[in-house]
Amino acid sequence: MGRLATIAGAVVVLAAAGCSDIEHSRTLGNPDVPARTLAQQVCSNCHGIDGNSTSPNFPRLAGQPEEYLRIQLTGFRSHGRSDPAGFEYMWGLSHHLTDGQIEGLASYFAAQAPTRNPDPPAGTPEQIRIGSDIFSHGVPGRNIPPCSGCHGDHGQGKGLFPRLAGQHADYLVKQLTVFQQTHQRPAGVAMSAVTHELTRENMKNVAAFLQAQ
Ligand code: HEC
Ligand code: HEC
Repeated sequence: MGRLATIAGAVVVLAAAGCSDIEHSRTLGNPDVPARTLAQQVCSNCHGIDGNSTSPNFPRLAGQPEEYLRIQLTGFRSHGRSDPAGFEYMWGLSHHLTDGQIEGLASYFAAQAPTRNPDPPAGTPEQIRIGSDIFSHGVPGRNIPPCSGCHGDHGQGKGLFPRLAGQHADYLVKQLTVFQQTHQRPAGVAMSAVTHELTRENMKNVAAFLQAQ
């Protein structure tokens, strides 16, 4: 993790400074660099070469629907998505991407096979069972709909609905809190209604369940 953080820091610093070495090499800021090269040389430092990041700091991208990835990258580039880690890491990185590179990056990561999350379980078997129940049935009486209705029976995602299965639990809880308490992800209006009455406990349970899928 120490090494990863160092690489991650370096990438951000270079991107933010618009360092000419980066701009004139086969990395960010050059519209001729193929998306695949960017994915494997830049994005891989944090998200993993096949999008199956092993660090809970970085969301897993493997098998995310292409459309969802395209919406997020466009959102970071236009500064529409402004949750703190997105702003800190992804604004600089997406700043110079062309539409064509965004398309290519989305299709690259969508095509990677998601692997099982290697993190230790994020909850007890009982918490995971409760999380599974929330995922498939919502919380009747508190206006919380089943997550599976939009994210798919197995959390596999589709179109603009992200894949949640196998995602890092910490990242999921963080994003649920963003939807509940902020307007930093304007593409997630549906999620602010969904999370309105979700307790911290509910979030942790459903995230523990999802990470284990
Ligand atoms: C220095 C580390 C770093 C690099 C390099 C990096 N990212 Fe990210 N990325 C992050 C972090 C951290 C987040 C989580 C942001 C948040 O919490 O909002 C993120 C979020 C994302 C998301 C949103 C995921 C989701 O589930 O909503 C996408 C898509 C993404 N990155 C794509 C890319 C692509 C494509 C590249 C290469 C051009 C890239 N990232 C390079 C750190 C990085
Ligand atoms: C009405 C449809 C709908 C329902 C029901 C729904 N979601 Fe979502 N969810 C979305 C959409 C759309 C997005 C993408 C928002 C964006 O692009 O910013 C999303 C995004 C998310 C994200 C962010 C993922 C990422 O990679 O950043 C999480 C976490 C999430 N939903 C969890 C849940 C949970 C847990 C439930 C059930 C309690 C749920 N959702 C129910 C539509 C829904």
